[in-house]
Amino acid sequence: MTDATHDGKGTLPGGLDPERFDELQRMLLIYKFGIDEVVTKVEVLREEMRELHADNPIEHLGSRLKSPRSIVAKARRKGIPLTRAALNEQMFDIAGVRITCAFGSDIYRVRDMLLAQPDLTLVDERDYITHPKSNGYKSLHLILRVPVFLSDRVESVVVEVQLRTIAMDFWASLEHKIYYKYDKEVPQHITDALKLAAEVASTLDVTMERIRDEVAQTPDDAPG
Ligand code: GTP
Ligand code: MG
Repeated sequence: MTDATHDGKGTLPGGLDPERFDELQRMLLIYKFGIDEVVTKVEVLREEMRELHADNPIEHLGSRLKSPRSIVAKARRKGIPLTRAALNEQMFDIAGVRITCAFGSDIYRVRDMLLAQPDLTLVDERDYITHPKSNGYKSLHLILRVPVFLSDRVESVVVEVQLRTIAMDFWASLEHKIYYKYDKEVPQHITDALKLAAEVASTLDVTMERIRDEVAQTPDDAPG
């Protein structure tokens, strides 16, 4: 943490001076604690649902902290000053948590469970499931504010939570790779194929949910 050099050549991201870089690193630790808080909450829900309700709405839980290099690049791009206050108010994806659910309806159940917690504040919600992006991207994004209890103060940090189904996640990870492979200039026929794949993924989600509902309504000893 004290080693401010980034690439071994003494160059810091975006030409930041070592003091600013150290400040950024210290700030990132608080965002990491924010991730830890949210991840623990989701793990508690997951275990409770599994052990006490024989229910498994969360398939996968992941998280990532934005790198100093990406923070500096995005701040420059969007004209956000590299201060704790400005980043806290204007850069919402420094701390990211991703929750993958088996079924679409589980996404909204997990969302409701999180939003019912009194120490979490909803800053913004983007429902790209009800309103998919034009490329076909689907996910529910929650921008949450979570308190982090430090030795001498309480800091509130913003954590971006992305909720999606396995099918939506599969699509998004491939789309992300393609987008970067073509350096953001994706040929039209690939864009069209991805759009079609997004529709297939949505159909799969609807079908799987229908099967799940039918099985849930069938008595356990029903004849096969
Ligand atoms: P930035 O794009 O991060 O500047 O934030 P924004 O304010 O535009 O928020 P948005 O909700 O568009 O995206 C936030 C995050 O969602 C991104 O960093 C990605 O992780 C994810 N995301 C949004 N759109 C897409 C998409 O079209 N494809 C994929 N694969 N991921 C996306
Ligand atoms: Mg965006």
